[in-house]
Amino acid sequence: MPSNNPLLKPETEEHIHHLLSKMTVDEKIGQTNQYMARGFFDADLIRKGLAGSLINASGALTGQGTSRSSSADVCNDIQKLAFESRLKIPQLFGRDVIHGYRTVFPIPLAQAASWNPDLARQAASIAAREATSDGIKWTFAPMVDIARDPRWGRVAEGAGEDTYLGCQMAAAVVQGFQGECMSNPENLVACAKHYVGYGVAEGGRDYDGGELSEPTLRDVYLPPFHAAVDAGVGTLMSAFLDLNGVPATANRRLLTDVLRGEWGFKGFVVSDWESVHELINHGVAADDGEAAALAFHAGVDMDMISQAYLNHMAANLDSGKVSMDELDEAVLRILRIKHLAGLFENPFTDLNRSNRDILMPSSREFARHFARECMVLLKNQDDILPLTDAFKNILVAGPLVHAQGEMLGTWAPDGRPADVTPLSEALKAAAPAGVQLRFAAHVDRAIEAAHASDLIVLVMGEHPRRSGENANVTDLGLPPGQAEWVDAICAIGKPVVLVVLAGRPLAITRQVQQAHAVLYAWHPGIEGGGALGDVLFGKASPGGRLPITFPRATGQVPIYYNHKNTGRPITADGDFKTRYVDCPSAPLFPFGYGLTYTYFAYANLSSRGEMNNGSIQFSAEITNCGPRPGAEVVQFYTRDVTASLARPIRELKGFQRITLQPGETRKVTFSLHREDLAFTISDGRKVCEPGIFHVWIAPNSSSGLQGQFIL
Ligand code: BGC
Repeated sequence: MPSNNPLLKPETEEHIHHLLSKMTVDEKIGQTNQYMARGFFDADLIRKGLAGSLINASGALTGQGTSRSSSADVCNDIQKLAFESRLKIPQLFGRDVIHGYRTVFPIPLAQAASWNPDLARQAASIAAREATSDGIKWTFAPMVDIARDPRWGRVAEGAGEDTYLGCQMAAAVVQGFQGECMSNPENLVACAKHYVGYGVAEGGRDYDGGELSEPTLRDVYLPPFHAAVDAGVGTLMSAFLDLNGVPATANRRLLTDVLRGEWGFKGFVVSDWESVHELINHGVAADDGEAAALAFHAGVDMDMISQAYLNHMAANLDSGKVSMDELDEAVLRILRIKHLAGLFENPFTDLNRSNRDILMPSSREFARHFARECMVLLKNQDDILPLTDAFKNILVAGPLVHAQGEMLGTWAPDGRPADVTPLSEALKAAAPAGVQLRFAAHVDRAIEAAHASDLIVLVMGEHPRRSGENANVTDLGLPPGQAEWVDAICAIGKPVVLVVLAGRPLAITRQVQQAHAVLYAWHPGIEGGGALGDVLFGKASPGGRLPITFPRATGQVPIYYNHKNTGRPITADGDFKTRYVDCPSAPLFPFGYGLTYTYFAYANLSSRGEMNNGSIQFSAEITNCGPRPGAEVVQFYTRDVTASLARPIRELKGFQRITLQPGETRKVTFSLHREDLAFTISDGRKVCEPGIFHVWIAPNSSSGLQGQFIL
């Protein structure tokens, strides 16, 4: 059957159907079981074909801490056990390779700040090469959950708040992991997670439920998953939360009708960690047997860890709660991915690879480049950055000044602190000759040293354990004690450059006023220190733009740029418009915002009256009017002014990253197609309604050149 579906290949289909015809019921059930040894490793389970996949996760739980549980020889030994089983079906080894393996890249939220999907693709490709050299063949990434609430710790793991940017990043990372062909020994099977709505968690509390209207689900939260499916992602993971009262792991409408029916997904779905068993806690199943039936019937093909499928599938088949056809379908999906991953041909890992493939100098060099491209310059009063040799004595101070493993960020179970040059040493190495750096990690020492310095670089922010899975906060300010640090140092009156290391947007309103410059470096990865030095001393320019709105205060969240207008918008006259009495309504920094070491002017937006023949183009001229070469992220937004449903005040529809020499002007053109303007109405249908649309070509989501057209 000829098909454009990237996961349907005639030779694969023939192989897996033939194999299925030889399998016993127990062997079929075994494929749906993902196993992790807890204390005792059950070799017989593998020999009997009762574990379809192994999660190589010990020590990687909730993404914190590091672990050494994976290596090629361990995986090969286990694979040998699989080849002692009757049908010799290979194991699929899964592990969380989230933003790099040993070469740890900036956290995913930082990667999105690069607005450069190609860099994210290259990073995923390096991670795949490293991880596969240790026997891993499946990663539980990318996390493509939209996040509008930075209290939620997992905001660090995704691409931020925007659907368009999220789709670009999702597709790029899937392509990076899986490459042209998943069977290449250097490629990993990707897993788009956590399907779906995980970031909606009420109060920013991880695992908590949430509510979404059908239009918001379909237009905001589902598209990054759809983009991953279109990019050929092999697997998806169901989320922990309940959405609109239906636990994601039991949601047949979304897992089957939408994912398989509407999108044609042919890979398999794995539950999240014990999320099948947790259906009991959600209150929709009385015991593991019912939980297994519910999740399986909904469309979860593989049970991560809870063993509910292993222990109860046979009884569920006997009682008719699950049919053999359903089981066969799930097994085919799992075998399909194993076959496409090349595991039947190449089940073992070449033991010579890891020495060659892990931590290659070129990978580290790329990590440094990528980190610079992710850093966002938020303030640069009097162009104090990059630092010139006018500042000869620089004090670098703050609790994170000697950060080492902390640079890696959350979910880096294979990153090793010893691979990271401590921040203080990396900065010393990057400083130009004649500039003296001193360091102080304690406030008293810092205050004393500050008096004798020309300038102070303050390094503040979050320890990685403060973001990531279940690391939620109620207060988005700097962690306790740090605001006092900034107060004390700024009171001295010397110029201060604030560098923030963090896994989420922090509400640093007061500190932004106090410091002369603010550079947001996120958790920048293994080469973060060198990258920071390059940016501070002007060897490179900061390349990032915010992929998420920065609130002024915790109480503003959820706050995101593509909200609805309300009947009494900020822009209305009079007192009775949307506001807080104790805080401005506008965010501290809008989505898309970021400065660099030069300036750009936007001019001459082309005006077009009507969209004919289903598409229209807009262009503008962008000029580098500053003193240095630099990169600008030119953003394209639209607004549907009058529609049958209230529509967002702006929506990102495109962006282009351009590099201009001083004085250079470039015309940047965006094409808009009729389907780009479609949105979902309450009954789930997508419509495109005629009328007036506004457009902006802009440096961020709250400014830019505005035009309009009629559809
Ligand atoms: C997380 C997943 C992760 C899984 C396996 C869960 O706790 O929610 O994102 O992939 O563990 O480690």
